[in-house]
This record gives sequence, C-alpha cells and structure tokens, in this order.
Amino acid sequence: MILLDGKKVAGEIKAAIADEVARLVASGRRAPQLVAVLVGNDGASETYVSHKEKACHDVGFQSQVVRLPASVSEADLLTLVMELNADDTVDGLIVQLPLPAHIDEYKIIEAIDPKKDVDGFHPVNVGRMMLGLPALVSATPAGIVDLLAHYRIETDGKHCVVIGRSHIVGRPVANLLSQKARPGNCTVTLCHSRTQHLRTICQQADIIIAAIGSPGFLKGDMVRKGAVVIDVGTTRVPANTKSGFRLAGDVQFDEVAPRCSYITPVPGGVGPMTIVSLLRNTWKAYRG
Ligand code: GUN
Repeated sequence: MILLDGKKVAGEIKAAIADEVARLVASGRRAPQLVAVLVGNDGASETYVSHKEKACHDVGFQSQVVRLPASVSEADLLTLVMELNADDTVDGLIVQLPLPAHIDEYKIIEAIDPKKDVDGFHPVNVGRMMLGLPALVSATPAGIVDLLAHYRIETDGKHCVVIGRSHIVGRPVANLLSQKARPGNCTVTLCHSRTQHLRTICQQADIIIAAIGSPGFLKGDMVRKGAVVIDVGTTRVPANTKSGFRLAGDVQFDEVAPRCSYITPVPGGVGPMTIVSLLRNTWKAYRG
C-alpha cells in the first residue's frame, strides 16, 4: 500500500508557483491577489479560509479576507461581490460556503465574474468544464485528478465509484474522470444516499472516491484488494487535542488501507491538493 502524500505533492507545486511569482515581482509586476469573503463565524469556514490565506502568503500572492457579520443582507453581499468584480487588482474571488440561510448561495455564486471564480462554482465554469473546454475547475476535483496524475495511477478504462453527489466534489469529479482525457476515460458510477447495493458496487471499483462527510463510512469489506481509495472527508470530531477536535475522513483507514494499492490519508491527502488547486486557479485568473 502506498500513501498518496498530498501534502508533499502540494508543497512541490507551491514551490514552483512561488518561483514564478518571485520572477514576476522581480520584473516589476504586481503579484496575483485572492480575496475571500467570509460571512459569519463558522469554525470550520474560519479554518479553511485561514489555510487559504497562509497558502497565498507562502507563494507570494496578495490575499485579503473580507469578514461580514452573519446578519449581512443578500443585497449588501451582492454589492460587495460587484465591487470586487470591478476591482482590477483582484484576480480571484471566493465566497466561503455555507452562507446563512437567508442568503441564496446560487444568487451570490452567479454574481461572481466567471473569470475571477477560482472556486469554479459559477455555472459558466461548471458548463465549460463539462464540455471539456478551458475553465476554472473546482479545486477539490482538480486536486484529486492532479494527485492521480502525479502518482501515474492508471485511470483509463477503470471503474471509478464516486460516493457523494455534491456540486463541489462528487458531480464534478465524476464528470472529470469520465472525460476523454488522461487522467480520465473511467467508467464512473456516481453513488449517493439513495443508492441501493452500495457495498456490492464499491466491491467492483478499481478507484473509490469517498466524498460524503460521514466519518469512517467506507469499511474494509466494501473495498476490493488492490483498489485505489481517495478520501475527501474532513469532518470535525471531538478529540483530546489543543483545538478540541480532529479531522476525520470518510474512510475507515485501519480496515481499508491494508487492502489498497494507494490511499490518501486524512489529513495530508486531498486537503492540501485542494488549496494548491485554488492557488493554480488564481494564477490562471491572473494570467487571463
Ligand atoms: N466550503 C467548503 N468547501 C468550500 C470551497 O471549496 N469553497 C468555498 N467557497 N466554500 C467552501
């Protein structure tokens, strides 16, 4: 069993981006800038945004976090998005999700300029990605594909089972891996909470991508010997740590890992690759 070391791969990609940014700045140009909008004070969102800010700092990007109270109106948030769209010094713009219930998430996402939509959530980017056209592809699916490519894991003709149909991970990664591309050319089964015979389907998979947010959901007896397992779960569970919690994946690692050819750890697998994809998208948005 080989651990897919997302932390290490992400570190290498970050070093390459940092080199390019240093050259750019040395030539007198401004560095790319990512702006994150954070509404309210959800603990997990705070953590995600601080990781994104740190990653920007590490590679020499400018970054800014705009914090708004949970009571902000949808109209005021839309106005802010318009202002950031119009600001030529802002290359990438993300609005951290989830938003408070009184705000329509898709109204906000659709207001973001697709050229600055480094989360790849705007319908224009989702549509372009589905057609295989150049697009800003959402960060976690892009990071998973990059990780498979880095380890030269064969996907051609393989059966990939994706568990979870979210707009952020499950659906886009299922689409990417079914495309006529490398990595790609998979036969994909997209499973979800209403799927029948999930265990049997998983047992037939060459590659399993677990993205449901249910700690330890994928058990050893659901995985064929030699399968590749990608764990996207990052649920906070109470633990005896400084923060009072730890991140738990969707995979019962102790049972599943011995059966795998490759597996991602949590933390240190998909998470760092997601952040680095966001940096790559910001770089792409900057270059235009
Ligand atoms: N909430 C959880 N994941 C994400 C993400 O990738 N982007 C944004 N904007 N919000 C999130």
